[in-house]
Amino acid sequence: MIAMDYLKFFNLTDDPFRLTPDPLYYYPSQEHNEILTSLNYAIEQKEGFSLVVGEPGTGKTTILRILIDNWKDKAEIALIMTPRLSPEEFLQAVLEDINVKLPSVNKNEMIKAFRDILIRHSETGRRIIIIVDEAQNVPDETLEELRLLSNLETEKEKLLQIILMGQSELRKKLQADHLKQLNQRITIKATLKPLTKSETSDYINFRLIKAGRGSVNFDDDAKKAIYSMSKGIPRLINIIASRALMAAFISGNGVIKKNHVQYAIDHLADTTPSRGYLKFAGYGVLGIILIVAIVFGAFKYVNHLRSAVSQANAPRTSAQAIYAGKDQNTGTGSVSRTVQDGQQKILTVSVEIANLRKGPSIETEKIAWANRGSVFRVIDEKKDDIGRRWYKIRNVDGNECWISERVVVIGSITGKR
Ligand SMILES: Nc1ncnc2c1ncn2[C@@H]1O[C@H](COP(=O)(O)OP(=O)(O)OP(=O)(O)O)[C@@H](O)[C@H]1O
Ligand SMILES: [Mg+2]
Repeated sequence: MIAMDYLKFFNLTDDPFRLTPDPLYYYPSQEHNEILTSLNYAIEQKEGFSLVVGEPGTGKTTILRILIDNWKDKAEIALIMTPRLSPEEFLQAVLEDINVKLPSVNKNEMIKAFRDILIRHSETGRRIIIIVDEAQNVPDETLEELRLLSNLETEKEKLLQIILMGQSELRKKLQADHLKQLNQRITIKATLKPLTKSETSDYINFRLIKAGRGSVNFDDDAKKAIYSMSKGIPRLINIIASRALMAAFISGNGVIKKNHVQYAIDHLADTTPSRGYLKFAGYGVLGIILIVAIVFGAFKYVNHLRSAVSQANAPRTSAQAIYAGKDQNTGTGSVSRTVQDGQQKILTVSVEIANLRKGPSIETEKIAWANRGSVFRVIDEKKDDIGRRWYKIRNVDGNECWISERVVVIGSITGKR
């Protein structure tokens, strides 16, 4: 409700700083474009393995979304977003994504099926692309299996393209002795860097235009403050800009100024302590509070704003909810809590994109997707043949569907929502 009010206040048609990697909001910075060009080139030229690393929130998953849009009609694509998988589970996930149905999950049969696909496609030249996001989480033996998969090809033509996307530690991990063979095969290695200062300013304008622009205006000092705090990392820019918008809205101000940004940064450090890269945001907080107090001599104003914003934040689903999902996902991705009597079980999607299926099994058709941080009420639950739990939910379009326990975090609320 509050979120709607603030969009109305600024005449916006959409939330400009949502945290989902949405291709519609893709801002083609020089870095992002160069990496996309390299990956397109790697696939076109059949380079085999490519690797892209980058700090959290720099836009790796966003790039993958664009890449998939480019290739989805011309290639078979398997996108693995939860890569903490054994070799067998990994193979199963790949085959499932490229629509190969097998009666069993016997590893030899899966490899045989995969080889058959490669042979079939060798006539037409259609690529098979395996994309692994968050690849720093792939166990070593699964990485080794990936290398063996790429060995299946005997022809000169390398139809199988593998893209590993992950945080900077992935590069180090691949330097280990036992992964040397894989590392040597990676022909394209790139690091995604944050936006520059002028790109940060363009990025903010760009997202505002995409969201209908309305009457929003971040003044130059506000943008400078966003850059110096976010260091050009898009996710941080979004979080800070979104909260600064909220602060300006609450104070009835159509122009977002430095003090709104400073307030946003202060509030950010209070509520998002768990991701390491946000820690630096906390260092300046004391100083900032002091500066705000001295410059405006208005502690009262700040306190008023603080309580108003925290109330406003409560029902907001954007930054905070998505962050909640993200933080919880740093664990196993499926932490179950006991739900007490009289409480309604809810789930939060804890991976970037989760499949919603027709029935409580991986064999059933995917009918929709849900983004990280989406919250649903659990209507029913069942276990499948291999003991994996599935939750029945109602999607935003009103259809009932099922989601696997592996991609959610379970919680509860009292009474009805
Ligand atoms: N080039 C871009 N254009 C528009 N938005 C972007 C761009 N890059 C990143 N973003 C935004 O920044 C946020 C983080 O991006 P994304 O999820 O792609 O980062 P990531 O590198 O995959 O992060 P992580 O390492 O945590 O998975 C998202 O809200 C996304 O929309
Ligand atoms: Mg990502």
